[in-house]
Amino acid sequence: MIRLETERLILRPWEDRDLDAFAAMNSDPEVMRYFPSVMDRDGTSAMMERARAKLSADGFCVFPVERKADGAFLGFVGLNRPSYDKPLPFDPCVEIGWRLARHAWGLGYATEAARAWLRFGFETLGLDEIVSFTAQDNFPSQKVMQRLGMVRDPADDFLHPMLGPDHPLAPHVLYRLART
Ligand SMILES: CC(C)(COP(=O)(O)OP(=O)(O)OC[C@H]1O[C@@H](n2cnc3c(N)ncnc32)[C@H](O)[C@@H]1OP(=O)(O)O)[C@@H](O)C(=O)NCCC(=O)NCCS
Repeated sequence: MIRLETERLILRPWEDRDLDAFAAMNSDPEVMRYFPSVMDRDGTSAMMERARAKLSADGFCVFPVERKADGAFLGFVGLNRPSYDKPLPFDPCVEIGWRLARHAWGLGYATEAARAWLRFGFETLGLDEIVSFTAQDNFPSQKVMQRLGMVRDPADDFLHPMLGPDHPLAPHVLYRLART
């Protein structure tokens, strides 16, 4: 069973006790600003179940981020094999992604957790490449990608296949990091 630790954080599989704080985060419009909509408690619960299923199938998924100091739920960070109904232009891939509650922004937690996941992905899973993508206007997320040393090639920019081409959030950027 995967359990990663950093200086300030514990990354471990989902537990039922995460649901309240996870649902509160997903209902915050500011957190969900670069997603088509906020997510209600049922949607959050379904997302947790999907993550658990991916952990069984793939051996990894996004994990909750727990602060060592007080056990607080800060959000999630992790690796994910995208499984949309429509393919991404760079499939197959493993992405790294993050979502933190607002109280946990600006403290370096996303980057700290992501570094542990990148090491796990390259060293333990033996992945050759990890990607990350986000809406073109989501600069906080792109700053995390840049801090991690991920690189964007504008030629990889794409329209998210699950959003209509005219949707304001459809234009996406892709960042890549190779094992080397
Ligand atoms: C994307 C998101 C996770 C970024 O969070 P974040 O807190 O800005 O990112 P980090 O954890 O890397 O923190 C870096 C910030 O903490 C600051 N910081 C403070 N203490 C720090 C420390 N000890 N170590 C490192 N950085 C620290 C850094 O200076 C930096 O601030 P800056 O961007 O103003 O320069 C957050 O904005 C979020 O959850 N957004 C909503 C969900 C979302 O859009 N997810 C991405 C979808 S693709």
